[in-house]
Amino acid sequence: MATPKEMRRLVAGNWKMNLDLQAGSDLAKACVDALGSQNIPVVFCAPAIHLHALSGIVNGASNVHVGGQDISSHESGAHTGEISGMQLKSVGCSYVIVGHSERRADHGESGELLAAKVSQALANGLTPIYCFGETLEQREAGDEQKVVALQLQEGLAHLDVEAMNKVVLAYEPVWAIGTGKTASPAQAQAIHKFIRLWLDARFGESTASTTSILYGGSVKPTNANELFNQPDIDGGLIGGASLKPADFVSIVNAY
Ligand code: PGA
Repeated sequence: MATPKEMRRLVAGNWKMNLDLQAGSDLAKACVDALGSQNIPVVFCAPAIHLHALSGIVNGASNVHVGGQDISSHESGAHTGEISGMQLKSVGCSYVIVGHSERRADHGESGELLAAKVSQALANGLTPIYCFGETLEQREAGDEQKVVALQLQEGLAHLDVEAMNKVVLAYEPVWAIGTGKTASPAQAQAIHKFIRLWLDARFGESTASTTSILYGGSVKPTNANELFNQPDIDGGLIGGASLKPADFVSIVNAY
């Protein structure tokens, strides 16, 4: 019998706006070949132009999935440049990142907008990977729990228990993303524990014990094991290191 923590394990790569179609295909093939038949679910969250080809590459690989990096808050229609949940689903996605800090910052994504995106993902059978986390100033002011609670509230409080049970969370302190500065395992564990308590209070004990809470922010082969060994850290959302097959695979294998 798998333990609750084993059931929650997940490692997602976030390629961000990197790689042309050929380079993305090469990366995915190299990862899939090296992963073999691991029993930890792995997701490649790639730019939209890759998703169709990527689905073909991971097809048949055990426990490897494809995800988008963003989703429209609308169902369909006159929204130039946007990509709907139905469209993501149609190219083989089963996950989508919602509320990454780079989108919150670059596109001013509000809590209300993100709540609608989470709902669109769920309505189309996609698992949202809902991201949140505090900035350096907020941490230095001792406000990290307040910020995290507000972002959880804004994006997720409208869901019922059944819907919430289909959501993955990713705590990504903004000061650790792409900076090489990782939250220490103890710092990350403290917030992850706080998030699980928040889930318990809002959605109940069962949701709290089954929801995957990923850590993101400069996860590397050298720190992944210690982070993933924390009781409330269930895996990672990996940016820079997901672009190097050897690094990404060794992070997955760090479990
Ligand atoms: P990083 O990015 O691993 O490069 O810090 C993580 C993320 O932004 O998801």
